[in-house]
Amino acid sequence: MTRGKSISGFSKLSKRGKLKWIVENFFIDPERVMKELTSYWLHDEEKQKVLDRFSENTISNFHLPYGVAPNFIINGKTYCIPMVTEESSVVAAAAKSAKYWFSRGGFSAEVISTEKIGQIHFLWPGNIKIIEAQLEDLRDHMLYEAKSLTQNMEQRGGGVGDFTLVDFSKEVENTYQLRISFETADSMGANFINSVLECFSKTFVNIVREQEVFGGDRHKIEVLMAILSNYSPACLARASVACPIEKLGGYGNYSARQLAERFEKAVNIARVDPYRATTHNKGIFNGIDAVVLATANDFRAVEANGHAYAARSGTYRGLTQCTVSDDEFRFWIEIPLSVGTIGGLTSLHPLARHSLELLSNPSAEELMQIIASMGLAQNFAAIKSLITTGIQQGHMQMHLVNILSHLQASEKEIKAALQHFTDQSVSQAAVRDFLQILRNPIGDHSQT
Ligand code: MEV
Repeated sequence: MTRGKSISGFSKLSKRGKLKWIVENFFIDPERVMKELTSYWLHDEEKQKVLDRFSENTISNFHLPYGVAPNFIINGKTYCIPMVTEESSVVAAAAKSAKYWFSRGGFSAEVISTEKIGQIHFLWPGNIKIIEAQLEDLRDHMLYEAKSLTQNMEQRGGGVGDFTLVDFSKEVENTYQLRISFETADSMGANFINSVLECFSKTFVNIVREQEVFGGDRHKIEVLMAILSNYSPACLARASVACPIEKLGGYGNYSARQLAERFEKAVNIARVDPYRATTHNKGIFNGIDAVVLATANDFRAVEANGHAYAARSGTYRGLTQCTVSDDEFRFWIEIPLSVGTIGGLTSLHPLARHSLELLSNPSAEELMQIIASMGLAQNFAAIKSLITTGIQQGHMQMHLVNILSHLQASEKEIKAALQHFTDQSVSQAAVRDFLQILRNPIGDHSQT
């Protein structure tokens, strides 16, 4: 016996039809929900169609705030970085960090390498040495057959690189892999890599089956799957900040040196404790995901890649590092970032196009440097707060507006609350009490 409601042919309904079925079957107040969800449709039908085409079964648009963090100096160039995030304090923290480093030399960033990886997983009951011996010949055939797919990419400076045979047969019976490296120029390259891999797979199987040199088992060759790997440790960016310790300035009762040393310890804890490292890296991705989303890149791919890289030693570690020498504070991040500035949604999503324009239409490599710097900035702001005031002070101040909205405060009440809570602790109860007093100054407030 199943519970809940199901439907066949849902995808064939019109958008309004889908919404109607949903509100009538899942909501107690269908009319109100229908009105609410359609109110988020764009008035411009053409623009709405562009969004609808990105996905399936769309019933409305789910909005997220689109903000900017100005004053980022990266390699001597000043950026105003677009960010899409729903978490309060993320943009403010990035902007604060950018401003802090603005007067201390800004961020330095570089791209270490840009190689991406594709995998053809195949099943082979025969002797793997036979395939190994023919690998170069197989590679030539595969490249030849995929020419129509690779030509354009080659003209843009990308293409197919090395082929390596990887043996997993001890772990999973008869399984091997062709691991192939790719350069994808300014595109993230997922579609390019996957199309080429599928073409390679066909050629690979055909050649092995056709040629006697592959022996009596040759008809048993099978490709299990062909897909890019979202782990690209050789598509790596590094961003760093550094300054003389004295230039860090003190904070509250902490001298500049004490601040630097506390900072270094906090970073080092995330290098050894996976519990702290997960939160530490989550904070880094607060900033990274926001830029990745604003430029319509694939934030799930970027996250998976970063977390796999963080665990490359066998222990999950923080992605940033810090050193404090006699006179210098250094803080840096090294992170794989597979992103593009052409292709995919980057050129289709209207707001992503504006994000890229705001960044002066960067190359993929420049975008990698911007994103790595943002990750570092976000982590700097989080750690500086954690080791000084604690995170809640800033967070709750930013969260105040959310609480006020939740309590349906008017503009005037929001203004009064912002003023009142500048030096008061923010909590749901404290804000509710404040509003109650404001709304009913001479009433009985004993029930709060
Ligand atoms: C909150 O979204 C992110 C932090 O927890 C990150 C950190 O602890 O480093 C503040």
